[in-house]
Amino acid sequence: MSKSQSATSGASLKLTRPVALVGLMGSGKSSVGLRLAKALGADFVDADDEIKAAAGLSIPEIFEQYGEAEFRALERRVMLRLMTGAPCVIATGGGAFMDPETREAIGGTAVSVWLRAELDVLVSRTAGRTHRPLLNSGDPREILSGLIDMRYPVYAKADVAVDSPAGITHERMADRIIRALKKHGQAFAPEVA
Ligand code: S3P
Repeated sequence: MSKSQSATSGASLKLTRPVALVGLMGSGKSSVGLRLAKALGADFVDADDEIKAAAGLSIPEIFEQYGEAEFRALERRVMLRLMTGAPCVIATGGGAFMDPETREAIGGTAVSVWLRAELDVLVSRTAGRTHRPLLNSGDPREILSGLIDMRYPVYAKADVAVDSPAGITHERMADRIIRALKKHGQAFAPEVA
């Protein structure tokens, strides 16, 4: 695909369902999601931002003051609400799709896209960031490796999987996702000739 075609390829496409990006911390859900929404002329929602707004606290503060179980309950409420809104691109938090109720709601309403990345990529993209409580509790590589074992079989239930290799630009990732969504066939209104 030529550069002039890239990322503008979504300009004529109209979302008919929310697109829920799932994947581990560092897979690019927020940055790529923003780019994808721009390419589609759609709204972008970062579920973590919605959680922060609902709680009036940062994610580390929610974990610290209320614990992970409360964070997960709040995350579930936010995700269920987002599934009732207008179609948009949603960056879910890495744990959201692991919750059966949230996964079912996403499955009934949205098209889910797993941004699949290898351990080294996740480690390097999350390095030096301190806003993710799960990665602050030990060696990030070990934690991410454990999460890959636990979560990848569940993320694999997403409607679509798109690889997110080292060094790929957000624009190219957005193009990959648009192509995958077109192939999947349920995210966009039929194109008029
Ligand atoms: C989490 C991922 C984070 C955030 C929270 C927990 C997880 O979101 O929701 O720190 O369980 O994987 P990102 O995946 O956007 O970093």
